[in-house]
Amino acid sequence: MSMEDQLPNLASRIAALRRDLHAHPELAFEEHRTAKVVADHLERLGLEVFRGLAGTGVVARLRVGTSPRAIGLRADMDCLPLQELNVFPHHSKQPGKMHACGHDGHTAMLLGAAEALKDMAAVGHFDGTVYFIFQPAEEHDGGGRVMVEEGLFDRFPMDMVFGLHNWPGMAAGSFGVVEGPVMAGADRFEIEITGHGGHAAMPHQTADVVVAGSALVQVLQTLVSRNTDPLESAVVSVTRFHAGHADNVLPETALLGGTVRTLRPEWQDAMEEGMRRICNGIETTHRVRVSLRFERGYPPTINSEAPTLLAREAARRVAGSERVFTHLKPSMGAEDFSYLSRVVPGCYVWLGNGPGEGGCTLHSPHYDFNDDIIPTGIRYWAKLVERALAPE
Ligand code: NI
Repeated sequence: MSMEDQLPNLASRIAALRRDLHAHPELAFEEHRTAKVVADHLERLGLEVFRGLAGTGVVARLRVGTSPRAIGLRADMDCLPLQELNVFPHHSKQPGKMHACGHDGHTAMLLGAAEALKDMAAVGHFDGTVYFIFQPAEEHDGGGRVMVEEGLFDRFPMDMVFGLHNWPGMAAGSFGVVEGPVMAGADRFEIEITGHGGHAAMPHQTADVVVAGSALVQVLQTLVSRNTDPLESAVVSVTRFHAGHADNVLPETALLGGTVRTLRPEWQDAMEEGMRRICNGIETTHRVRVSLRFERGYPPTINSEAPTLLAREAARRVAGSERVFTHLKPSMGAEDFSYLSRVVPGCYVWLGNGPGEGGCTLHSPHYDFNDDIIPTGIRYWAKLVERALAPE
């Protein structure tokens, strides 16, 4: 039976599995039930399954023919700390936890692809090794990073790695396949300002951390407006500013924090340097001490040329050229697929989830993954493997 013949049945079983995952969401590094569902399913298919990478991560290997070529397909398994407001039967059974980013769909579709590819392997549709990578903790703490640190690519060498994310607001079943930066790097900063507190009516006897901090918030914006090439993109958002308790007391300290988003690793360096320079300037100007803690988070996700060409071709075969968008703007959100694709050339695509209105956006308490795109996702993974590991 061809993949097209078996797809309706496969897709409806995978949709049921997806709804089961949706009803039982698990947070970063706690995906024990999900990992068991995934690993058991892959074992039943007869794949070689490796459990326990990064705690709850699962890798499965499908080796076909004699070619040394190998590629990795990656899905994420974790949910968000969010109270679901949907009332449909498969709503979350876990208070305060929800699959509001569609990782239930990503996991289910990759399991469906593993099944389809297992059958295709039997009839010689490709030659090489496919790794199915199910990672924990995409939303938080970088499960992808931990898998790489624990030897993902040493134990399972691969030439290319591929990721996929559903995208509300893009027509259901359409694709975004863009070369270069597609998701931003996300760094965090915390700044403590220490001055001299005192009477609010006698500011000349103090070193005022509120005024210093206010100036700092303003000047930090010049990192974007005056330090970044106007044709490039960056974000500096101060999201916290805590100081003081009383109307007549100037406080001794202020604490600020926020996020920096950039699209190239070298701009992460430039932002950190610029922030240190500005903090030093504020110290001199306002006679305060400013200590900056700049913490690197997820790197930018940058799609390499060769895997992007393959992904584009696979998407076009599945959705038709007119439904594959190749010039979309990057998102300033972040994605820890970048920890994989900065080591091994990779491509991360968006799969349209349908209209994004009515609260059905990523991370909304009303969100749900669109089961109608499951056949498209399975087809995409299958066509991608066929292309990337075409018999030579
Ligand atoms: Ni996500």
